[in-house]
Amino acid sequence: MKRISSLPGMQKLALDWRRKGVRVGLVPTMGYLHEGHLSLVRKARALVGAGGKVVVSIYVNPTQFAPTEDLSKYPRDLKRDLRLCRDAGADVVFTPVDGDMYAGRSTGGYSTYVVEETLSRGMEGASRPTHFRGVTTVVAKLFLLVLPEVAVFGAKDWQQASVVRRMVQDLNFPLRVVVATTVREPDGLAMSSRNVYLTPEQRAGATVLSRSLREVRRRVRDARTGVPAGDLERQVAEGVAQVSEARLDYVAFFDPETLMPAVTVTRGTQMALAVWFGRTRLIDNGRL
Ligand code: PAJ
Repeated sequence: MKRISSLPGMQKLALDWRRKGVRVGLVPTMGYLHEGHLSLVRKARALVGAGGKVVVSIYVNPTQFAPTEDLSKYPRDLKRDLRLCRDAGADVVFTPVDGDMYAGRSTGGYSTYVVEETLSRGMEGASRPTHFRGVTTVVAKLFLLVLPEVAVFGAKDWQQASVVRRMVQDLNFPLRVVVATTVREPDGLAMSSRNVYLTPEQRAGATVLSRSLREVRRRVRDARTGVPAGDLERQVAEGVAQVSEARLDYVAFFDPETLMPAVTVTRGTQMALAVWFGRTRLIDNGRL
């Protein structure tokens, strides 16, 4: 396994691969890897086959963090990440640095961004207004540097995967976006690099996200007809309110493809929620 930090170095290798007809899979990450990330690496490996190449990018992308957010505190452990990538079957770990990725940004020398204007508005986009502009921009750059034929994203960030898929469709990127299932801790908590921020009390309370999903799913499946979204919103808000230190940011019910809000919730509707624990914000989602 190779580590590449240079942008031209990565792109040159990608162009070489393309000329030789080598299949390439990309897994974009911000590092501090866990089983969720590694399941995407294994998925990419399976998709491109033994003769293909799997690239994992590790880059804590500054443009997707608001000034008030956790950019400088975002957990990092590159040595461990490199080992995990190798064990999971990566061929290249791409570790660009800010000075290259956004060369000249602080002095006005970088000024091009990619903006998706519809799917990125609600939910995460409403809570974090500049977030998806940063995500689509960095993901577009990674696609052009690595030239993958398939890119693997996690269902844990359902809206992000939807926004990326839309960008790929709208801008004619010649690649396929594959979305892999959310990997969870034994108690249901979705794995996240941010889980390390939680105090033991907050960690115990954090099961409220997956529990809310399960409880709403049960209610929707038991109902003969659809359930009004407002009723379910109240149910989730009450459940979260019972957990000490937990504060509901949003809960949303929507069509899994279009992300259009559902007024009446039925089997097949997607649910997503975000909950604050102190200064840590956790998200989860699932199909009802
Ligand atoms: P990061 O949070 O590191 O996540 C990288 C990828 O791993 C994303 O596609 C995310 O959905 C997936 N992932 C995270 N937790 C997961 C879990 N428990 N199960 C399955 N997949 C999981 O998402 C980002 O980084 C960034 O926004 C990025 C796309 C890299 C752009 O900077």
